[in-house]
Amino acid sequence: MSLFKDGRARWAGGVATALLALGVLGSAPALAGIANTKHNLGALGTGANKFTGTQEICVFCHTPHGADISAAVPLWNRVLAAPTTYQTYNSLGTSSLDGATAPVGSVSLACLSCHDGGQAMNVMINQPGSGTTVAGLNITPVTGQGNLTADGKIGAGVITNIGTDLRNDHPIGIQYGGGMPGNIAYPAAAVADGGFRDKDFRGVQWSNLNGNDVWWVDTPGTGAAGTREKTDMQLYTRLATGTSPVPGATGNQALVECASCHDPHSENPTFLRVANTNSAVCLACHIK
Ligand code: HEC
Ligand code: HEC
Ligand code: HEC
Ligand code: HEC
Repeated sequence: MSLFKDGRARWAGGVATALLALGVLGSAPALAGIANTKHNLGALGTGANKFTGTQEICVFCHTPHGADISAAVPLWNRVLAAPTTYQTYNSLGTSSLDGATAPVGSVSLACLSCHDGGQAMNVMINQPGSGTTVAGLNITPVTGQGNLTADGKIGAGVITNIGTDLRNDHPIGIQYGGGMPGNIAYPAAAVADGGFRDKDFRGVQWSNLNGNDVWWVDTPGTGAAGTREKTDMQLYTRLATGTSPVPGATGNQALVECASCHDPHSENPTFLRVANTNSAVCLACHIK
């Protein structure tokens, strides 16, 4: 038996079969992370929704060159819809909602570029290989599998098809905690539990990273509170001016977007930043 550079064993076929029969080998994944998730849409994807023609993973969302810069999403390889495409939760008119709602934010637009059901997964700005549209490269869905339509969109009536009506989804583009305390000067340090306009929200951490104000909600038991980790609930910063009315605020705003709760690269069930045991995701933000 030989070893790969990273120490994984390279099994001889006969040995592997014997160990499989003994139940020793099991289904040991070749790679950790996104490769084992439904977000691996390449031909080697472990999920049901696959595309032939490329074995790449990242290319369905990111490109190293020529990315969309209409919104602040890292190296985005897909065309984003205008924020006005979507009906937002606040238009439902629940009397309990405190926070101001801004137009759907960049990262949510990125998720919705597949999850609103409007655009095929294999539509990308820069295809894998040499050139934006590569001759002979045919990225087509493996039909009859998963929840994709024959033309590569997430099918209608499937729960993963969020659609363009977001009134039936947890609010996004929504101010955290009903908005920052009115008297806070920006940039400012962390805000403590109950320090928001809506008192039923946990405190947030703040840092200025690389010149940007960054806010997050620390999830207990996932590293130091003062350090931002991918297992913390991320809040997305937007200027108070220009995008939305912001009660009581004088500076940057911390908003909830899709990736506040989800990490699209995570192996956790439903891509949650932390497992939702005892509703840990919900209770990370809500004091209930
Ligand atoms: C299904 C879509 C999707 C796929 C596939 C995907 N990403 Fe991402 N990625 C995103 C989104 C959305 C963000 C923005 C997240 C945010 O703003 O919090 C992101 C952010 C990132 C970031 C910056 C933030 C961070 O989490 O570090 C890096 C780096 C990154 N992706 C690398 C990769 C690599 C490498 C691959 C392939 C192995 C990959 N991604 C595959 C959707 C995807
Ligand atoms: C390139 C297209 C694409 C992008 C971009 C994308 N997804 Fe997905 N996502 C999919 C597909 C395809 C599935 C599988 C759908 C199915 O089988 O019903 C999926 C499944 C999911 C699931 C369900 C996982 C499960 O275990 O059932 C969640 C949650 C999810 N995505 C969240 C997100 C979030 C949040 C973002 C943005 C940060 C995002 N996705 C961006 C294509 C995408
Ligand atoms: C406040 C937290 C939160 C936000 C914001 C959020 N989600 Fe989710 N999402 C969840 C949780 C929790 C689940 C798991 C639901 C379950 O276990 O039934 C989930 C499930 C999903 C699923 C799988 C469908 C299902 O319910 O089984 C998809 C797809 C998804 N989310 C996409 C998105 C997209 C796209 C956005 C932004 C438009 C978004 N989510 C915003 C918390 C959130
Ligand atoms: C990242 C932080 C965050 C997480 C995680 C989170 N929420 Fe929220 N939630 C918010 C914010 C912010 C609001 C808007 C509150 C407001 O403005 O009144 C909200 C609003 C709500 C509302 C009320 C909307 C209204 O009309 O008053 C409900 C119900 C809710 N969330 C349930 C959940 C559930 C259930 C979960 C877990 C699946 C969850 N939330 C996870 C931040 C979060």
